[in-house]
Amino acid sequence: METTVENQQDQATASFEKDELVVQIRGLKKAFNGFEVLKNINLDLKRGENLVVLGKSGQGKSVTIKCIVGLLKKDEGSVKVFNEEVADLNDDELKQLRTRIGFLFQNSALYDSMTVRDNLEFPLTRVLKLKDEAEINSRVEEVLEGVGLLDAIDKMPSDLSGGMRKRIGLARTLIMKPEIMLYDEPTTGLDPITSKEISDLILAMQKKYQTSSIIITHDMACAKITADRLVVMNDGEYIAEGNYEELENSDNELVKSFFK
Ligand SMILES: Nc1ncnc2c1ncn2[C@@H]1O[C@H](COP(=O)(O)OP(=O)(O)OP(=O)(O)O)[C@@H](O)[C@H]1O
Ligand SMILES: [Mg+2]
Repeated sequence: METTVENQQDQATASFEKDELVVQIRGLKKAFNGFEVLKNINLDLKRGENLVVLGKSGQGKSVTIKCIVGLLKKDEGSVKVFNEEVADLNDDELKQLRTRIGFLFQNSALYDSMTVRDNLEFPLTRVLKLKDEAEINSRVEEVLEGVGLLDAIDKMPSDLSGGMRKRIGLARTLIMKPEIMLYDEPTTGLDPITSKEISDLILAMQKKYQTSSIIITHDMACAKITADRLVVMNDGEYIAEGNYEELENSDNELVKSFFK
């Protein structure tokens, strides 16, 4: 390809965007009925990275990601997504922002009365308001192929195994082509083999769609497969940060305990 001024600029933009922060949290505090769950959360998510969040139960991991999508309101601090303060967005802007973020809830459920195809079409027709049948079809098939379940397109959720339902749930989120994915314990309740399949899929989706992801998990096998970087949350703060090997060799007893 000929090097023009324009694509030189593109390259310059691309390398700049590599270090771009898609989520930037500073001094975040959140309390419920006087009980401070988040005391001082500082967290960056870089464009294109998989960030794993470790922490004991009840530490506020889910609360943190709910603050990112504006499902919960912060008490203090700053939560910026794509450089915009989430708390400053009006309802329409928040809706718009959420179309760019995929959120796989801890207990995300499919619509039981709809086929897999209808479950996947739903966000396209209802949220993105797509009308072109051919485009809808090709997006449904592409994403099902991506999660390895094209065969299940006409099945009902009740005819699928737990692991398959998880994969369809993931497909339903990915079909929106989100720039950010928030995975809340994506492998909980699955057997080790299915967990590994889901973890491999999370990694494959990062590569395929260049998504930036936060993955909350207690599953260290999942963390090892998916993480570019890990953070450990404890008592309302992040206490450690590094790659898998660095944290595995940490001197901190709590950090070490996750790797046992
Ligand atoms: N909407 C809410 N109203 C009141 N308290 C809440 C609300 N959401 C969360 N909490 C409280 O905040 C604390 C942290 O909850 P959170 O769900 O973030 O924990 P977690 O780290 O995700 O735990 P787990 O690993 O078990 O999922 C808990 O004590 C919980 O009861
Ligand atoms: Mg949780």
